[in-house]
Amino acid sequence: MVNIKATLLVTVFISSRAFASPLVQRSTSSKTAASVSYELPSFLTPVRPAPNPSYYVYPTNTNFEVESIQELGKQNDPDNPLAVYRDGGGSCSIGNRTVWFFCDTLGYDENDFKAMADNSLAVARSFNEPTFLADATSNSRVSYGWGPAVPYTSEEYPWQDFPSKRYAMWTYTNCLQVSENQAVQFFTLNKFSSRLDYYGLGNTMVTMDFNPKTQMLTLTRDQQVTFPTTTYAYGSFASIVVNGVAFLYGLDTTYSSNKDVHVARVPVSHISDLSKYLYYDAWTKKWTSKRPKPTARHQSAAVMSNSMPYSSGSMFYSEYHNAYLLVYFSNWADSTFRVSYAPSPVGPWTTDNKIIHKIPLGPGGFDYGGVAHPQYYQNDGPSGKALLLHYSYQGSSQKYTKAAKLVFK
Ligand SMILES: *[C@@H]1O[C@H](CO)[C@@H](O)[C@H](O)[C@H]1NC(C)=O
Repeated sequence: MVNIKATLLVTVFISSRAFASPLVQRSTSSKTAASVSYELPSFLTPVRPAPNPSYYVYPTNTNFEVESIQELGKQNDPDNPLAVYRDGGGSCSIGNRTVWFFCDTLGYDENDFKAMADNSLAVARSFNEPTFLADATSNSRVSYGWGPAVPYTSEEYPWQDFPSKRYAMWTYTNCLQVSENQAVQFFTLNKFSSRLDYYGLGNTMVTMDFNPKTQMLTLTRDQQVTFPTTTYAYGSFASIVVNGVAFLYGLDTTYSSNKDVHVARVPVSHISDLSKYLYYDAWTKKWTSKRPKPTARHQSAAVMSNSMPYSSGSMFYSEYHNAYLLVYFSNWADSTFRVSYAPSPVGPWTTDNKIIHKIPLGPGGFDYGGVAHPQYYQNDGPSGKALLLHYSYQGSSQKYTKAAKLVFK
């Protein structure tokens, strides 16, 4: 098995980082661990009201035969004067916009490295041209001193001496819209003590609030670590809202080598209140308020357990399949989009690892970070019939994300 994490490391050097940007307002208060606001580029991509499925549905069209695949190429902001390279990430709707997060993001002019951030945020320009983005934080029209999209806490902020010391917050799934102008995203929090040595502290929940009057997006972290490595990283593998309840899925990376997925749920109105979370045991089919503290593998409690390890993916309800779908990559670095489906958010999920798209490899080797974006192509029939896919592609010296359109038969 290939160690995917090793390929995500950035191998450039810079001596210092500037955080100043005229659009950014930072604040810390005792209530929040970290907060930042910045202006969103004003490209509107409203989605039609999401179908509100029943908790239990009756799947159809489940042979998942593919009618067509169209590779669309590199995702890029055509107005950014720097060439931007980045990986990972996911998208969601908020305030009639589509925001995209990415992980390590690097900017170059013709010859030289100019800017870097451990994550970045962009806005979709149009659903018709899914590769065209408008960079909100890695925006070199404004400043080469990029800041990350996600704010650092006071513990993290001083630990910045790239590349030997840094924190990196990364995500490999979609964010989750919880109301018209609010969404959340979960990032794994990694601490580097040298260029190649880092460890994970768990994940951190970022709440996003969009203010339509000011066009400002505020990102808030209530605590440095939301789900530490002593439990599962709920929300970091996938998430979905069904009837006002958020289901947040996390991998058992420690004891199952990414084969087991555990799930927590919380009403969307209380998503940042950890005392309202319930945790599922698939064996007893009961939800309990006691957060698991695993010291061994608990396969029977997992909502999904597969022969193949999971890496990245996204979950959503597909009208076309009348089913809950998980579109994902395995950890076997086989550069392949696969699909599982279920009649409810707690399964039973299929584990036949059905292949829907094998991606052409770049000169740098395998692709990773595959995620599906169901808010695109809403006019191509029932939702879920056509999907935007995105993944991280390894070029000869850089990684970047590419998009593809998949249509089911
Ligand atoms: C989004 O669009 C809807 C429908 O046009 C509108 O009612 C709402 O005010 C819009 N919200 C924002 C934040 O622009």
